[in-house]
Amino acid sequence: MPLKIRNVLVCDAVDNACVELLKKHGINVVYKLKIPLDELTKEVKNFDAVIVRSDTKITAEVLAAGAGSLKVVGRAGAGVDNIDIAAATKHNVVVLNTPGGNSISACELTCILIGTLARFVAPATQSMKEGRWDRKLYSGSELYGKTLAILGLGRIGREVAIRMTAWGMRIIGYDPITTAAEAKAAGIEMLPLEEIWPLADYITVHTPLIPATRNLISTETLAKCKQGVRVINVARGGIIDEKALLEALQSGKCAGAAIDVYIEEPPKSEVTKALVNHPKVVATPHLGASTSEAQVRVAVEVAEQFIALNGTSTEYTS
Ligand code: NAD
Ligand code: MLT
Repeated sequence: MPLKIRNVLVCDAVDNACVELLKKHGINVVYKLKIPLDELTKEVKNFDAVIVRSDTKITAEVLAAGAGSLKVVGRAGAGVDNIDIAAATKHNVVVLNTPGGNSISACELTCILIGTLARFVAPATQSMKEGRWDRKLYSGSELYGKTLAILGLGRIGREVAIRMTAWGMRIIGYDPITTAAEAKAAGIEMLPLEEIWPLADYITVHTPLIPATRNLISTETLAKCKQGVRVINVARGGIIDEKALLEALQSGKCAGAAIDVYIEEPPKSEVTKALVNHPKVVATPHLGASTSEAQVRVAVEVAEQFIALNGTSTEYTS
């Protein structure tokens, strides 16, 4: 049976294409960015649905406050870890996301960061801006012939493999669900994790943050890696143990890291701040999905799902 969504609260910076499409289908949209938790808990009962990206947390408290009126939470993005799924289920709230809409953008940022680490693009740029000409200091290494380990061979992991193969990298990977044949089609040699650690020159993680992947890169696993391994995280903060990574950078075990996502966003802890400020770290503020193309795609996808829930179709009304 259609859910009848009439009033939607948009809490994060979602492309206007979403608002336009919803309005075109007779859905009333209120756009309120950076809404504090206490205000959100008061407001939520006035809406049938909310749309978020990753900034707004749809906690058990918010869902309890919306109980009886809130029917849907739409996530304009892939990960739903900012939404309390158990509480949503308890209150019969449907949770929708847009997996795939931003995969290419997240993949491209990952590939760019791998190249940035190999050639010291970020610190060399900074040195020029500071008036230096440090050609020796920033001599890098080729990606050609190096081994890239991809942990998590879903949508983004496989796209990264396809692109980095073109750079002449050997791609190895691990995923408990993806089959060896699926991996091979993307140019990836599947190996058990224990075989991956000592082989990888670069390790990039593309898993969800779940108990099995929390601290996948840890003091213990870093110890099994090559001296000078480089790591990249454009997936979720917490997949890499930030303290372990900082120590590995300080000891030289890890020669560089590129990080887009953090245990806490924006970073507040001393460890995360020290990591961001480490000279061998390239840090971006959760920009994986931040392209005009991805934002339009996820905005349209989330709106289309709302419209479909109402029992109407975008095809016949445009
Ligand atoms: P996906 O679901 O397509 O792929 C995830 C893969 O991880 C799956 O194949 C799954 O089997 C695998 N996996 C699960 N547990 C694992 C484990 N223990 N070890 C190895 N692999 C494991 O997801 P996706 O769309 O490719 O997204 C990957 C990650 O990137 C997610 O965390 C997502 O939230 C994040 N993401 C971040 C940004 C960003 O802005 N930085 C943008 C998009 C997605
Ligand atoms: C996602 O899970 O899709 C990402 O974190 C991107 C985002 O919402 O900005």
